[in-house]
Amino acid sequence: MMLHPDTDNSFKLSEDTFSMSERSYPMRETDIRHVLEIERLCFPVPWSRHSFLAELFNPNALSIVTTLWDPLEKDNVRAYSCNHIIGDELNILRMAVAPEARRLGLADRLLDMVMSLSGQKGATEAYLEVRPSNKPAISLYLKKGFQVIGIRPGYYPETGEDALIMMTKIKEIS
Ligand SMILES: CC(C)(COP(=O)(O)OP(=O)(O)OC[C@H]1O[C@@H](n2cnc3c(N)ncnc32)[C@H](O)[C@@H]1OP(=O)(O)O)[C@@H](O)C(=O)NCCC(=O)NCCS
Repeated sequence: MMLHPDTDNSFKLSEDTFSMSERSYPMRETDIRHVLEIERLCFPVPWSRHSFLAELFNPNALSIVTTLWDPLEKDNVRAYSCNHIIGDELNILRMAVAPEARRLGLADRLLDMVMSLSGQKGATEAYLEVRPSNKPAISLYLKKGFQVIGIRPGYYPETGEDALIMMTKIKEIS
């Protein structure tokens, strides 16, 4: 982050702030408070703090957060993804972006990172479930090369909605 002193001794952001302001790293316990705020806005049945905490101690889990630098709050979690890598399968369990940070490409880049890291850990195929009504998510996954391979009837107990099962191959990391 580039900061330049102003004449009045306050600081202003340099022009390259935006490109330097996005950061992704493995989820930490201190991120969970922010993740829960986004989770509650995004999902009808949000995961609990305990669920996210359990992921941090699960050896098969890969949980990544993306922060955007915010002059008031410093690094501010704006997106996250929770995944399991079991054998050669990546299972994408959670992918969410805070409403005010959508359509900035955060999910696109986060998914690239998850696929790349899981490929390095030996995953060759990625799977996920998504609601047929969730057009933004389906559009994201289709853009990233996923295809619908099946339906899980009544998968979402709170609405009885079916889930689409989507899958893609993970490209080999050279
Ligand atoms: C789905 C979600 C993760 C997308 O996050 P995002 O950061 O806004 O997505 P991006 O900006 O990276 O967009 C990537 C692609 O997703 C698709 N997309 C994202 N939002 C969309 C929308 N509102 N309508 C249509 N397509 C959309 C587009 O294909 C887009 O590519 P483009 O910009 O070239 O058109 C976000 O809307 C979200 O958190 N939704 C609530 C939680 C959720 O449903 N998670 C998925 C559960 S399976």
